[in-house]
Amino acid sequence: MSENNERLEQCRLACAECQACTLGASRTHSVFGAGSPSARLMFVGEAPGEREDATGIPFVGAAGQLLDRYLFEVGIPRSDVYIANILKCRPPHNRDPLPEEQDACISFLRTQVRIIRPRLIVCLGRISAQKLIKPDFRITREHGVWFSRGTFDMCAVYHPSALLRDPSKREDMLEDMYAIAERLRAASQ
Ligand code: URA
Repeated sequence: MSENNERLEQCRLACAECQACTLGASRTHSVFGAGSPSARLMFVGEAPGEREDATGIPFVGAAGQLLDRYLFEVGIPRSDVYIANILKCRPPHNRDPLPEEQDACISFLRTQVRIIRPRLIVCLGRISAQKLIKPDFRITREHGVWFSRGTFDMCAVYHPSALLRDPSKREDMLEDMYAIAERLRAASQ
């Protein structure tokens, strides 16, 4: 096992035991994250849904399948990226994560970023962008805009669930995903 893998596994074990907020009591599985431990590109969603809670794997439900289609379309293998969420446990009825739940959980994500050291972090949706980029982030106005953060660059795109609800946003998403693939190629040279 690589050193990164070992460190991620230690953090995953701590996450599986976590009871720092009330969601620990209702989860089936904590959903720590999945993908390459040395990924240059990391996606951060909001919180696990029903399928993710059942399997322990992020983005495997309908929204995840749509994300997979975008990755395929722009030529990024899912196995090359790392995917995680702000919350590791599913909120009841998929409601928005509460600020106190985000605060209780965020140290796991910070540890994941410290271990993986991605060049690009892409927030999936408003909740993730407001937590990681800036509290007043406006997804409609600012999706696809890059923010430099020292060792990595960040942007946000529409959450795939929003694209399922409103297909008129899909063209913007495709454009943003092509730009992400291009930046990833530039960062890999
Ligand atoms: N939505 C998210 O934000 N994360 C998942 O893992 C699944 C759906």
